Amino acid sequence: MSNYQYIFTEIDDAVGKIILNRPEVLNALNRPMITELVNALETFNKNENIKVILLTANGRSFAAGADIKEMKEDDPIYLEKLDQFAEWDRMSLIKKPIIAAVQGYAVGGGFELVLSCDIVFAAENAKFGFPEVNLGVMPGAGGTVKLTKTIGPRKALEWLWTGEYFDAKKAYEYGLVNQVLPVEVLFDEAMAFAKKVATQPPLSIRLIKDTVTKAVDLSIYESMQYERKNFYLLFATDDQKEGMQAFVEKRQPIFKGK
Ligand code: CAA
Repeated sequence: MSNYQYIFTEIDDAVGKIILNRPEVLNALNRPMITELVNALETFNKNENIKVILLTANGRSFAAGADIKEMKEDDPIYLEKLDQFAEWDRMSLIKKPIIAAVQGYAVGGGFELVLSCDIVFAAENAKFGFPEVNLGVMPGAGGTVKLTKTIGPRKALEWLWTGEYFDAKKAYEYGLVNQVLPVEVLFDEAMAFAKKVATQPPLSIRLIKDTVTKAVDLSIYESMQYERKNFYLLFATDDQKEGMQAFVEKRQPIFKGK
């Protein structure tokens, strides 16, 4: 358990769980909550015993976006000085896998949070979208960029301009979520997946994430050069020796993350 005000953290074997916990406002993401979330991610990132991070939420929804009541009176100079999205940038530096289990609304900043995760399990009742346009603004934590990169500009504009929500099935069709599950099994399935990834050699998992993240931004040539370096680097690990020796000896490998 933890000392946070707006989230809980728990450790289950090698999985660090972070649970958004403002269910009375559908986990609206106020700024202290984002700071707590990033601090928890960084704490798990540094903890050698944690191999995978699972992000979930209490209540009927994952997160209904940034806290509208908190930002209602903001002005541009205040926002520039506050630089709140620098906190979101810290999320992109987390090296361990982040898996999200999403039920109910994941909209606005809640959807941006989903788009910041590596793997997404969605409940059948999940709803995604960017309603910021209905408030006279637009996404500010990477939503326009990440949605466009994932589904292309036409579909992205359709959703960003209308502010409409789309369901889990549609999100799956567009490659925004990995699996759609009945809400009753969502958390168990996401945890089972997290535990499975946690048994894999951690340095491979880490460098695969690093390389895939680079591949989204860099050219094919540059990302292939980057991939190669990470491939070579893994030959410096004990786990590479163990994995290949175990194959030759026809036994299960025992990975140590070294
Ligand atoms: N900020 C603050 N409070 C919020 C909130 C938000 N984003 N979303 C919901 N709440 C509060 C509601 O005010 C309500 O509180 P009260 O009981 O005190 O009235 C409570 O949570 C429950 O919400 P609803 O009664 O509205 O629940 P619903 O099921 O009828 O509707 C919903 C759900 C359609 C998601 C609706 O709550 C809604 O439209 N929320 C706002 C969504 C939104 O516009 N998000 C974008 C925010 S801007 C942003 O995220 C910018 C960015 O890029 C970082």
